[in-house]
Amino acid sequence: MGKTCSKTTSNLSVKRGERQKARNTPAGKETNAPLGVFVLEYDASNEDIEKTRNWKPIIKIAVSGAAGMISNHLLFKIASGEVFGPDQPVALRLLGSERSQVALEGVAMELEDCLFPLLREVDLGIDAKKVFEDADWALLIGAKPRGPGMERGDLLEMNGGLFAEQGKALNEVAKKTCKVMVVGNPCNTNALICMANAPNLDRRNFHALTRLDENRAKCQLALKAGVFYETVSNVTIWGNHSTTQVPDFVNAKIGGERCTDVIDDQTWLENDFTPAIQTRGGLLIKKWGRSSAASTAVSIADAMKALVTPTKEGDWFSSAVITDGNPYGIEEGLVFSMPCRSKGDGSYEIVEGLKINDWLRERIKKSEEELSNERSCVSHLMGVEGASCVILEDTLLPGEM
Ligand code: LMR
Repeated sequence: MGKTCSKTTSNLSVKRGERQKARNTPAGKETNAPLGVFVLEYDASNEDIEKTRNWKPIIKIAVSGAAGMISNHLLFKIASGEVFGPDQPVALRLLGSERSQVALEGVAMELEDCLFPLLREVDLGIDAKKVFEDADWALLIGAKPRGPGMERGDLLEMNGGLFAEQGKALNEVAKKTCKVMVVGNPCNTNALICMANAPNLDRRNFHALTRLDENRAKCQLALKAGVFYETVSNVTIWGNHSTTQVPDFVNAKIGGERCTDVIDDQTWLENDFTPAIQTRGGLLIKKWGRSSAASTAVSIADAMKALVTPTKEGDWFSSAVITDGNPYGIEEGLVFSMPCRSKGDGSYEIVEGLKINDWLRERIKKSEEELSNERSCVSHLMGVEGASCVILEDTLLPGEM
């Protein structure tokens, strides 16, 4: 193991004795640790230089909802090198709440105990303005679920406030190049709010997670066709991460052939496959008693890898991104899931030229209207006053039934 915890080099760190003291301080009490809890930083000076010579400069990944179930799967994937590769050291900056502060310390202890060589630093805190400082990536996972009797508008308002705050924090302290992946629901509109409050960051740096829906769609198509899932490609999720999302079987391919040629069963594709993907999160909650966590974490890792790895020739991936200048005539200023491709440098382009038949068009329109309505409900959180909030149909998140 090439790291020790005994010496610190950065002014963000605390010495071992102090760290221990900070760790033992009851949650909520003032400590002298910089992020409100404590910081681990490893001294690499005794490390095998041959092993680390070709490593890239460290990147900082901030994660909100870090003590939750999704993070509990994701953090270990990132720290192991699975997402960014074996030559990319990482610093994890974990954002919790006052309530989860002590649990967060438990998460950090487990991370320590995994002996991940690439994990160089773990910072914990409950203040977004400190935790997001200099972040290269912000994974915004934490959000509150809809409570009993709450309208969708109430949910938007409740979580929107949180994402407006986090957007402001990112704007102030994150790197200008920071990539922001919003997972907390309703993720498309939360991403839009966050973006509106972070004008220093390029709007194209924001994503809302629909990779989970893409993975779900690929799995069901593979099962139906009786093939291994890796042969399913070119699957787009259009629109909102809600029950209006449109899993596109029209442009999907199986083994390089049109999905509709391989699965010659339009009734199944329209009436079974489509609603199954739209409501899969809810079915899972019914069975598990909680929302998807491991598969969501895997899909976040997939979504990040998709941005830092060149996309296979001819293929694409789904991500909900800003619609400004999109080639499909979707209303501008929405965060809408579309087919994307990346050169592997963290950026993406929207793939043009997909065939949009009447069946797709009608459903994509519905999701677009839903997102447009959601935007008007939260416009005050985006610095626009006076828009009216009209939600015609109380549509659901995938996890609500
Ligand atoms: C999912 O798709 O599984 C989640 O978004 C469900 C939820 O609402 O938490």
